[in-house]
This record gives sequence, C-alpha cells and structure tokens, in this order.
Amino acid sequence: MAKNIYTKVLQDTQTKARLGYIDLPHGRVETPAFMPVGTNGTVKGIYHDKVDEIGYKIILGNTYHLYLRPGTEVLEKFGGLHKFSNWNHNILTDSGGFQVFSLSGLRKIKDSGVTFQSHIDGSKHVFTPEKVVDIQGIIGSDIAMVLDVCTPPGIEYRNAKEAWRVTKAWAERSIEERNRLGESFRGNLFGIVQGNFYQDLRKESALTLSEMDFPGIAIGGLSVGESKEQFNDFLSYTAQYITEEKPRYVMGIGSPDYILSCVENGIDLFDCVLATRMARNGGIFTDDGVITMKKAVHKFDERPLQEGCTCTCCQKYSRAYLHHLIKCNEMYGGMLATEHNLTYLYNFLERIKQSIREGRFAEFKKEYMARFYGTK
Ligand code: GUN
Ligand code: ZN
Repeated sequence: MAKNIYTKVLQDTQTKARLGYIDLPHGRVETPAFMPVGTNGTVKGIYHDKVDEIGYKIILGNTYHLYLRPGTEVLEKFGGLHKFSNWNHNILTDSGGFQVFSLSGLRKIKDSGVTFQSHIDGSKHVFTPEKVVDIQGIIGSDIAMVLDVCTPPGIEYRNAKEAWRVTKAWAERSIEERNRLGESFRGNLFGIVQGNFYQDLRKESALTLSEMDFPGIAIGGLSVGESKEQFNDFLSYTAQYITEEKPRYVMGIGSPDYILSCVENGIDLFDCVLATRMARNGGIFTDDGVITMKKAVHKFDERPLQEGCTCTCCQKYSRAYLHHLIKCNEMYGGMLATEHNLTYLYNFLERIKQSIREGRFAEFKKEYMARFYGTK
C-alpha cells in the first residue's frame, strides 16, 4: 500500500478550501502550493538559488522532454535529476501524457501504449505506462505521474469514454510497475482523472482513481481550451468525488483567478508555465491584473511593478526600466520579469493561506477578483 503523505491542518467552513502539508522524499510542502515549471530540468530564466530563496519547495520536470534530452543514460550516470541539476527540494514530473498529445507529431494510441515522433528530430518512440514509471524512477521524481490520455473539449462521448478506458487500464498497470520496482522507486505515483467534459465519465474516473492505491490524485484534461465557466463547473463537479484523504492536484493551472477557483474547491497543488512564459514576453502579475510591459504607457513610469513586492525588480528598478529591457529583448528583462511573477505567485499563495487561517478566504477571493478584473 502507498503510504499516507497528506495531513490536513485546517478546513475552511465556508468553502472547500483547506490548509495542510505533503511529506515527500525531499521535504515537506505546505499546501495549497503553486509549483513552477522546469520542463528541461531548469525553471526558464531564473537561477535555481532564486527559486529556492523565494521559498518554493517543489518544481516540475517533464518526462517527455527529459527522456528525449538528455536521456535516461545521462540521468542514470549522474544519479538522477536532483543531483544532475543540483536542485535539492522536491521534483514532480509529468508523465508525458499531455506533451505527447500537444507537442509530438504522428502519435498512435494502442492499449499497449503510445507511439510518437520527437518534436526535436522526428525520431520515433514508444511510451508504455510501465516505461514511463521506470523513466521517472531514473529521474528520481518525488511525485511521478501516470501516463494518461488527455483529450480536447468538443469530442464525442464514445471517444471520451474510450480515452478514459485506456487511461484507467494504464493507471492499473502503472501501479503494478511501481510495486514491481519496490524500494528502488522512491517517488509517489499519482493517478490522473480524465473523462473530458462528460459528468458521468468524470465522476466514475474520480471515484475509481480515489479507490486505487495512489497516494495522490490529479485532475487532468482541464484548461484545454474550454471556457472559464465550463472549467469551474467541471472542476467543482470532479473535485467532490475525489477522496479527502489524499492530496489533490489540478494540472496546468497558474493564473491567480484560476488558482482561487482551485483552492475554493479543495485543491492542494497546481502548476503552470503561464507565470514564466508570460514573463519572458513582458506579461506581469499585479493585484490590478496582468500588465503588459511592452506598452508605451510604462515609458516614464517610476513606480515598481507591484507595491510591496520583494523581488529584485520591484526593489531596485522602475517600470520604465523593465519596459526598456523588454522592448530591447534583453535577457535581463525576462529574468527580472520571471523572478517577479514567481515571487508574486508565491506571496499570493501566502496571502491565500493566511486568509484561510483567519477564516476569511471567501472574502479574500471576492475582493481579489474584483480588483484583478476591475481595472484591466
Ligand atoms: N498537464 C495539463 N493537463 C494535463 C493532463 O490532462 N495530463 C497530463 N499528463 N498532464 C497535463
Ligand atoms: Zn516584484
């Protein structure tokens, strides 16, 4: 049996929001927590030391990317990704289920696994659920994800049902492979709920996976192009069927408004490339919404990006300077913006946790949303 890794500390009385922590091989993660994405074993545009200094205790890596480059031989030689990249906190790796579908060419799903073409050189590869568990064992992931079939909105019921059937069979095989590896697999294998935008499939998926021997459960197949309303509907519908005993993770969520919806529904973990990707293009999180640093309105603006922010940019520079750097495509601009957005999101989660502690999360959400959207 997978051991219990989640401890609930406080349940909000007005919403499903909860405070807790997850104990992992590389230390404790207080939840709810946002996890920055470091696809290739680095969070783009920021020193690991800075990610650590901000306070992050877990980042993401990607099985699909790390398998293609540098490959498992290199990772094995260097004793896993923690040692290779000198990141000493936790690492969660996505299985590649999503990336095979979004990045690679010519993919073919069979019951046995998925055949795909590398987006780098067109070479052909096969992922089976067992192989993906093995690779994540070599990476040394603290949280490993099962191989799943993620589907876009708008597909027919029978196709969504078939994708869930395969996802379920793969989840069972993933558990068997983890058990076969025994002590040599140190990570915690999470199942992924699918079922597209069909309630009966989502319900069955959430209930089935909750019963299986997973120490944590993720919700996949959301934020794949659906409306915010549909996202909210399916998030709350699905989350209610996931056991309270295990950490709950919504994959691919990272803007403040979506994070608030997740927390409200009792979600503990989320990740997204948005904060870092947007930063490199000059998109900046503030309490008044996202501001675009390329715009000329910032040219003479002496203010920091966000009053009270502790990041390098807000401590040292004006909006005007960052505007200039971003306009010139200077790397330093992307770096400063990345550090700001990750600092902002970290502090945002601190504010959320404080509001839950003080029994005013619902109020915090309402006020935050009014301001975030109000002045945009
Ligand atoms: N990242 C965002 N959504 C998904 C999903 O549905 N499955 C996987 N494996 N990763 C994701
Ligand atoms: Zn800042």
